[in-house]
Amino acid sequence: MGMVEGKVAIVTGAGSGIGRAGALALAREGARVVATDLVLASAEETAAMIHREGGMAIALSHDVGEDAQWDVVMAATQSAFGQLDVLVNNAGISGKGSLADTSPEDWRTLMRVNLDSVYFGTRAAIAAMAPNGKERDRFGSIIVISSILGSSAARVPRLIARARARCASSPSRSRSNARRAARRCASTRSIPATSTRRSSPR
Ligand SMILES: NC(=O)c1ccc[n+]([C@@H]2O[C@H](COP(=O)([O-])OP(=O)(O)OC[C@H]3O[C@@H](n4cnc5c(N)ncnc54)[C@H](O)[C@@H]3O)[C@@H](O)[C@H]2O)c1
Repeated sequence: MGMVEGKVAIVTGAGSGIGRAGALALAREGARVVATDLVLASAEETAAMIHREGGMAIALSHDVGEDAQWDVVMAATQSAFGQLDVLVNNAGISGKGSLADTSPEDWRTLMRVNLDSVYFGTRAAIAAMAPNGKERDRFGSIIVISSILGSSAARVPRLIARARARCASSPSRSRSNARRAARRCASTRSIPATSTRRSSPR
C-alpha cells in the first residue's frame, strides 16, 4: 500500500520540473492527482504519464495568481474525486536580470505568481479540506515549494527574485499559519528546493 493511498492531491505547476516529479511520485504512492499548470498541454502530458503507469489523474489549466481560478480548480477536484487531502503549492517563476533592471510590472508579476498564489491556494484548500468549516476525521497537508535562498545569504537581486523564499524565511509565520490551519483541518509545510540546475542556481 502506498504512503498516500486513497488521497487526492493537487499539484500546481505540474507540467514540468519539480511539479511533474512530485505529481508522479504522489501517484506512484497511490494518490489521485489533479495536475494543474498555466500551460495545459504540459499538465495533460503529466496526467498522461500517470495514466500510463496505471494511476489516476486529471489535468487543468490554471493560473495560480488568479484567485477565481482556484475556485474552478477546487470545484473540478471535488467533481472528479470528491475530496481534497493534499495541496502542493509548487508553481513559481524566477526573476530576470539584476534588481536595477526590473520594472514594477516584473515585481508585481513575481509577487502575484510566487506569493499571492500561496495565499489563494492555501485559503481555498483549507475551505475544501474542511467543508462548511467543519473539521474532518483526518488531516490534510498543504506544502509550499520554496527556495533555500530563503535561509541563506545571497546576492540581493537573486534574493528578491526568489520571492517565494519568503515562505521559508519566515519560520514563525509558517509555524503560526500551520497552527491556525491545523486547528481547522490541515498541516502546512514549506519545503525549500535546492537547485536542480547546476548552471542556473536560484
Ligand atoms: N529548480 C530549482 O532549482 C528550484 C530552486 C529553488 C526553488 N524552486 C522553486 O520550485 C518550484 C518549481 O521549480 P521548477 O524548477 O520545477 O520550475 P519549472 O520552471 O520547471 O516549472 C514551473 C512550472 O510552473 C508553471 N507555471 C509558471 N507560472 C505559472 C502560473 N502563473 N500558474 C500556474 N503554473 C505556472 C510552468 O508552466 C511550469 O510548468 C518553483 O516555485 C521554483 O521557484 C526551484
